[in-house]
This record gives sequence, C-alpha cells and structure tokens, in this order.
Amino acid sequence: MKRDELLKEMGLGPLWKLRPPFVKPSGPPREAPSLLSAAADERTRAIAAMGWAELRQAVAECTACALHKTRKQAVLGVGDIHAEWLFIGEGPGAEEDERGEPFVGQAGKLLDAMLAAIGLKRGENVYIANAVKCRPPNNRTPEASETAACWPFLARQIELIRPKLIVALGKPAAQTLLQQEVTIAKARGLVHDFAGIALIVTYHPAYLLRNLPEKAKAWEDLCFMRKTMAGLG
Ligand code: URA
Ligand code: SF4
Repeated sequence: MKRDELLKEMGLGPLWKLRPPFVKPSGPPREAPSLLSAAADERTRAIAAMGWAELRQAVAECTACALHKTRKQAVLGVGDIHAEWLFIGEGPGAEEDERGEPFVGQAGKLLDAMLAAIGLKRGENVYIANAVKCRPPNNRTPEASETAACWPFLARQIELIRPKLIVALGKPAAQTLLQQEVTIAKARGLVHDFAGIALIVTYHPAYLLRNLPEKAKAWEDLCFMRKTMAGLG
C-alpha cells in the first residue's frame, strides 16, 4: 500500500506535527528489566523462568482466571521474538479466539495499516501481544483481576523479547503496564518508562474504528513513536 492510500485509509491528510514533550526514558536502554517482585508466588516464579515453548503451553492450559472457561484457545502473541517494537492490545476477540493469532479481525487490519504507516510489518521487528491471553465473553473489557492473573505471562514475554519500545494500545494495556488508572488522552504523547524500556500509549484501533476523528491523534502518536525509536539509537 502506498503512503497516500494509507493516510486516506486512516482518514488523514499528509501534514502532521509531532506533539511535545519528547522525553527520553530514564535509565539505560535495553537493559534486562526486572519484573519479578520479591513477593512473587510460586506460579509467577515458574512463569518467570519459562522459554517460548513452555509459555505457549502454559497459556494453552492456564485456568488462573475465569476467562479460560469460555475461550476456544488462548492467544499468546505473534511476531519476531527479537523485535525492537512490542505492541500490546487488550485481549483476543472472536476471530482471534478462533484463529489463535492476535489482531486478525477488523481492528487488526487497522493495526496493520498503522504499522505500515511507520514502515513496520507484522512479524518483522514487531511482536504483538495482549494484556489477557483469553477472549473475554462478548468482547467485554477484561477485569483488573483478569489482567493481573495474566500479567506474569506478559511480563515474561517482555523480558524474553526485551524490546526497545513498547506501545500500549488502549486503556487496559496502558493501565496494566503503568500500574495506575490512566486516560489515553493524558498518557499519550509522552515517553513513559517501563523497567528501563520506553513505553508509549495510544488509542486502541477498535476505538479508532468507532471514533474516526481520533485517527488524526493516532497518526500524531505514530509519528511520535517513530521519532522516539529513532532517538533510542
Ligand atoms: N483487540 C485486541 O485488543 N487484541 C486483539 O488481539 C484483537 C482485538
Ligand atoms: Fe490464564 Fe490469562 Fe487465560 Fe486468564 S486470560 S485463563 S490468566 S491465560
């Protein structure tokens, strides 16, 4: 797809300004994050020692929260396990639950277009995961207890990938990573620090599909991500 077509698909024109402030994350880049608290329980410790194959099996068999009851299959994530970019969504929807891959429905098409807009492609230097690995019934927002139960898996993915930049798509992902209540409006346009890794927050593509005017802000955020990554060297 050409850039102009992409911008059109996103409902956007060609000229966009980057939003200040542009802040580098504190701490050395690409240092191994320590995500395991001293009080971690046995399950969390076990997950923190897993490799990819074990992780895949563990989420497939996981019954740590109620979402396991209604899933067809758990969806671990997809992409380059050595990626510099890590995108984190909310949780699988119907198509993802069916196919076992994140962001393959309508929101996924928009995410792919967003990636292409900044020269990225699913699977190439990009990994895509979700805050919860099992589909919430009727695509409801995952509860805090569910994102908490699923967190050790995401934490281990982050630790194994050690991306340069994490992009949280939407509120559940942002809150999971920032460990506080946030609004996207306030949290976007900043480089947050996640265990020494740069973290940028933006709107979820499913939200953008329902709120077309926000696509312009999403485009600003994409430019900001690209600029931030360039600054990370
Ligand atoms: N929305 C998400 O947050 N994740 C998916 O995988 C699909 C839709
Ligand atoms: Fe386990 Fe996560 Fe699925 Fe809950 S959502 S059952 S914690 S894999």
